[in-house]
Amino acid sequence: MNKENLVKKTVIENPDSLLLLKNIFENNKLDITKFKMQFLKRRIERRMQIKEISDFIKYLHLLENDSIELTYLFESLSINVTSFFRDTAVFNAVRAIIVPKILSNIENDKMISVWSAGCASGEEPYSIAILLNDIFGISKKIGILKNIRIHIKATDINNKAIDFAQTGQYQNKFLEHLSTDLKKKYFTKIENHDDSKYEIISEIKDLVDFETMDILSSPENAYDVIFCRNVLIYYKKDAQELILKKFHNCLKNEGYLVLGSDEILIGKNTENIFYPVMPKEKIFQKIN
Ligand SMILES: C[S@@+](CC[C@H](N)C(=O)[O-])C[C@H]1O[C@@H](n2cnc3c(N)ncnc32)[C@H](O)[C@@H]1O
Repeated sequence: MNKENLVKKTVIENPDSLLLLKNIFENNKLDITKFKMQFLKRRIERRMQIKEISDFIKYLHLLENDSIELTYLFESLSINVTSFFRDTAVFNAVRAIIVPKILSNIENDKMISVWSAGCASGEEPYSIAILLNDIFGISKKIGILKNIRIHIKATDINNKAIDFAQTGQYQNKFLEHLSTDLKKKYFTKIENHDDSKYEIISEIKDLVDFETMDILSSPENAYDVIFCRNVLIYYKKDAQELILKKFHNCLKNEGYLVLGSDEILIGKNTENIFYPVMPKEKIFQKIN
């Protein structure tokens, strides 16, 4: 394809440009064409501004030849804003309704398995691990005396975010809205550290298995719950539909899917494969 044939200036929407971009990103194993056009455009235009390039074709040339710029663009597409127990109401609902339902159907000595898809810097899967650990600590009170193992798979396309998550170390400012009790129970202060950093205790860290991976290329497994929050919003309708179908295949019968507060079930027939058990909290159940 002759790049010069492409219309100059901003031609991101041009299918030829998109194909070129897709090829450039092939090594990152990221199908860039699945993102919403407006989101992709904004991110690219922002990078072009920073690099003081006004011609999109020139920017494509730069991406082809400068792996650092490619990394910057890739990272700008991976918005990793997150926090511990983000949207408390959702975690409260999982604790009060969803986990007891799962436990009532699970046999002794079995495993409860959860996938945090698009886990960013780890706050979400660690929050799930803390929540489950807390529930099992008080399981006698809710009348369940089972010896259940916990496994949490946490994946993200951004390998920097995964490397960070695996350290389990967070600056104090990221723990500020945690209760004193939770902080005391699950974090230890790293001594002699200027930033006043805390590390999550190894009992919690060991429950989470991190891996850099695109949701769509993740191996199929049978999870009890999938958290995929604040990820779908960046994707086009057909990509969202593909991801939702992938989740359906990756859940146990009657397993649960937790989406972000601004997300809905999008796509053909997705309302036939998931039932909104707690619509306000964006918690859905797999229809078998
Ligand atoms: C805004 S963060 C959300 C983090 C967390 N789920 C939450 O709600 O707090 C979105 C994360 O999804 C990741 N992501 C986006 N597309 C992905 C994909 N196809 N596969 C895996 N991770 C993806 C991004 O890299 C980013 O870290």
